[in-house]
Amino acid sequence: MTRSVVIGTGSCLPKRELTNADLETMVDTSDEWITTRTGIKSRRISGHGEETSKLGAAAARQALDMAGLAPAAIDLIIVCSISPDMVMPSCACLVQKELAALNAFAFDLNAACSGFVFGLDVADRYIKANPAMKILVIGAENLSARTNWQDRSTCVLFGDAAGACVLTGGEEEQHGLLATRLYSDGRLWQLLSLAGAPSLNPDLEYAADNGAYIKMAGPDVFKIAVRSMGEAVNSLLAQEGIAIDQIKLVIPHQANVRILRSLAEKLSLPFDRVYTTIEKYGNTSAASVPVALDEANRRGILQRGDLVLLCVFGGGFTWGAALLRW
Ligand code: UT7
Repeated sequence: MTRSVVIGTGSCLPKRELTNADLETMVDTSDEWITTRTGIKSRRISGHGEETSKLGAAAARQALDMAGLAPAAIDLIIVCSISPDMVMPSCACLVQKELAALNAFAFDLNAACSGFVFGLDVADRYIKANPAMKILVIGAENLSARTNWQDRSTCVLFGDAAGACVLTGGEEEQHGLLATRLYSDGRLWQLLSLAGAPSLNPDLEYAADNGAYIKMAGPDVFKIAVRSMGEAVNSLLAQEGIAIDQIKLVIPHQANVRILRSLAEKLSLPFDRVYTTIEKYGNTSAASVPVALDEANRRGILQRGDLVLLCVFGGGFTWGAALLRW
């Protein structure tokens, strides 16, 4: 049976660092509040030349290098993002242009912070249909452009980044992407939203700020995040007949270290098996999982044969999990 195998990972972080001390000079907040409530100490903020497509392309180049592939070898580019450079063309087409990956077709996928796992699932279906395909799945965000820098309840949380992986078909039964579980509940859309630029839609309700910024019901999102990720992980493991003790590393969406600790507790998982980047990068939405995956991979934490579990949640509401054997 064909399995989708990760043959390269990469990531790119903008150069500029914005620390909690910097934020203290911008809004009524403190390093102490941000650290204890979120675990975040710093985040990266994009500047000129670090647009979402540029970060995505840089992450993709690293992943291609690791895979030993030229851009022309790529058949499909999926960019998972809620902060693409523009609505049209897609960020994926702009990444294609940056890479000169001219044999690929390309499209964006929006599942908010859950995007990367949804992207893996889509890539897996193409690969099952045609194992020779080489697919770039990229999570890339410039949330700093979608953040209200006067709103202390959100501006301390987010950061910019991109992560990427290259997948292709492998024939080893127990090696590669073993399973995914994806969920959505559109009834919860108001918990986390980003309306976008004004359209001709007469029902658009965000006239006051043109819908440019992320809105969030933080405490509600917190509770639902822990519950939904926990359920996704448990049902995926039950489906695959795998116990949590067999998982080498859990790489969750990085939104708040308290969410991750609560999740670990719910899963009876020692926290040292939860990979975290939240302290240095904040919440980078669809980029958070692929950035962490690349970091863990490059540090040599993941060895061939290890079971790795990804789990995510985000606006929509969307959530899910993916199980890989490295
Ligand atoms: O990728 C998915 C996106 N989002 C998330 O996953 C976020 C999930 N939620 C969270 O991470 C947490 O709910 C937050 C970090 C957003 C907030 O933490 P909390 O412990 O739920 O705090 P809260 O919203 O209940 O606010 C507590 C207090 C409030 O003051 P009062 O009303 O108690 O006087 C806030 O006004 O903290 C105040 N506050 C702040 N104080 C200093 C809110 N933001 C700040 C701030 N600095 N930056």
